[in-house]
Amino acid sequence: MPEIYKDKTKPAEERAQDLLARMTVPEKAAQMLQLPYSKMTREEALGWAEKGLGSFLHVLGDNARELQATALKTRLGIPVIFGIDAIHGHGLNDKATIFPTQLAAACSWNKELIEEMGRVTAREVATDGLHWTFSPVLCLGRDARWGRVDETFGEDPYLAGELGAAVIKGYQGDNMDGEESILACAKHYAGYGEAVGARDSCDTGMTFRKMREVFLPPFEKAVKAGCATFMTAYGSIDGTPFTASEKALRQILKDELGFDGFIVTDWDNVTSLVTYQRAAADMEEASHLAVKAGNDMMMTSAGFYEAAVKLVENKKLDEKLLDDAVLRILRIKFQMGLFEQPEKKGRPGCFSCGEHLEANKKLARESIVLLKNDDVLPLQKEKLKIAVIGPNADDIRAQYGDWTYFSHPEPDPEREPQRPYFTVLEGMREVAKETGAEITYHRGCGVLDENDADLDGAEQAAKESDVIILVIGDVIEQIGETKDRANLDLSGAQQALFDRLKKLEKPIVTVLVSSKPLCIQKIAEESDALIAAFNGGMFGGLVVAEAVFGKLNPSGKLPISFPRHTGQIPVYYNSLPGWHGGKYMDLPETPLFTFGEGLSYTSYEYSNLKLDEKRLVLSVDVTNAGKLDGTETVQVYFRDVVSSVLTPVKQLIAFQKTALKAGETKTVTFRLDKSDFSLVTPDEKRVTEPGELVIMAGPSAKEDSLLEIGVVV
Ligand code: GLC
Repeated sequence: MPEIYKDKTKPAEERAQDLLARMTVPEKAAQMLQLPYSKMTREEALGWAEKGLGSFLHVLGDNARELQATALKTRLGIPVIFGIDAIHGHGLNDKATIFPTQLAAACSWNKELIEEMGRVTAREVATDGLHWTFSPVLCLGRDARWGRVDETFGEDPYLAGELGAAVIKGYQGDNMDGEESILACAKHYAGYGEAVGARDSCDTGMTFRKMREVFLPPFEKAVKAGCATFMTAYGSIDGTPFTASEKALRQILKDELGFDGFIVTDWDNVTSLVTYQRAAADMEEASHLAVKAGNDMMMTSAGFYEAAVKLVENKKLDEKLLDDAVLRILRIKFQMGLFEQPEKKGRPGCFSCGEHLEANKKLARESIVLLKNDDVLPLQKEKLKIAVIGPNADDIRAQYGDWTYFSHPEPDPEREPQRPYFTVLEGMREVAKETGAEITYHRGCGVLDENDADLDGAEQAAKESDVIILVIGDVIEQIGETKDRANLDLSGAQQALFDRLKKLEKPIVTVLVSSKPLCIQKIAEESDALIAAFNGGMFGGLVVAEAVFGKLNPSGKLPISFPRHTGQIPVYYNSLPGWHGGKYMDLPETPLFTFGEGLSYTSYEYSNLKLDEKRLVLSVDVTNAGKLDGTETVQVYFRDVVSSVLTPVKQLIAFQKTALKAGETKTVTFRLDKSDFSLVTPDEKRVTEPGELVIMAGPSAKEDSLLEIGVVV
């Protein structure tokens, strides 16, 4: 039989079918398995490569090369595909360009810069001999208690979908077999962050209608963007584990949305059906459920291999189900050119090269959010005495946040940080050189332990200063999987540190270097200025300093709302209406800051909102009414006046970043479509109902900031 699978002139589908026909059941089961290099010996890994394992994860550089060489010597020589969590740069490699996290990058609302982040990351992952990143996270950050909010693009489905599609395009490039392209992975499908109480991997308690209405849209855009792989979420939907949900995986994702790549489970999801979710009595039943539901590759569930072979041999599992999974995996391996290039060239020498660092800086500059400024910023007086205080002022580990070489594959606080990077203190010192300002520094306190504090020392350091820059937040030990928090108040002695400094009656600029919104109501009220920097990557501290000294005019907008108190959660802006409006009698109704908020050193005015009803073209005039050039992100929301199911009080449907010179007015236009106004009916159909709508345009989701116009569709 001519070996079509070896003929690179043949289409991927043909080659995959030909190869599949030659495989034994054990080879098929091995191809559907992905194992963690970091959790096994070299000999074990080589043994699995000899069995024809489909994929390894968390293997770097030379170890990958050796495994690939072994795989290519097997009977059919099917190359292994290497996956890694390169989710804000190829961060597990300490030579890589480390970008702001997704939540921080989302503050830029800049699709082009986020696509470029994907491009740079792909180049460095490919150069490292790896093929596939488990990114983007398309879960929604709707409950800040969840440990992984930093990995999301925030609380809104529209923004998350737009930015997710952009980074997928960046990772995969124009063609998946490009020298510098890698596979993307839309995760975690779907609604993982909606676990009750934000308890990671627990039941989401939601219906499929709600999943389709709120959590599916970003994944639909990922399919349209040609995302090669999806990852199944932990947890369950209304009691059915996502891993075992044939409706979620086969019916909706594969059949309805036409996803033709392959689905990989999340970490040990198959075994967890037995050990945690008690949805299967043993590995055979779990493996059967997982394959039947539509999972194509099983991450780290080594027991799947034997169980699957036995199930087919005992006629308890139809081999055709394995065939569908293996075909999907092989098709992608052919499409990405893996057989011709088991190791891509990438771009040697590109790790943290000038071009990559420039892309990082550009994104970081648009990712910081000015939330308050009572005429204290920018600092422009000459020879200022500036006290930089706080636990996160000079902590690059805290600034990087999760998923870098400090936190994965095993947390290693002793790991030597690699240059270049700027903490806030280093950024302030760097930029102060240009202004002659004098910088003093004191850590003030730790983040975790109340007793780790030297408030007297901090007070002493700040006493002679003209202005205080206080840098607070959270640290790696408080971020990530299994790190959900029941209390989002500042930990350690951070609040006490602020209160002590406040007594000095000097201007305080508070900078939040954190993985997520924290409950800082008192600090927000009592600070003279407040900047949300989140985890800003290598240049996070530099861009804070550039903003503080006015070298950049902040333009970031929040992709996530800030609760005043942990008990106020959820506070996402696009909530459903209710009589008492979710109001607690012991809190104001509004969040501390809401989605879309972000100030500038200039001010913008909105006027003249118009709608061409026939063509559904919306236009609004935006004026830069201040003295400084700036960039405004104009946001468009809508609400259904009457709808057959409850619909949110407002929903984002479009946005545009618009540069405006001082005094300039621009007319910003949006081409809308009736499908923008759709809802999901109780029988799970997405429709746009006829009737009246209110369309809004403005600088944020805050009620009093939006112009409105009515229309009947
Ligand atoms: C983790 C995460 C997932 C990650 C995978 C591989 O547990 O849930 O996001 O991609 O395992 O590291």
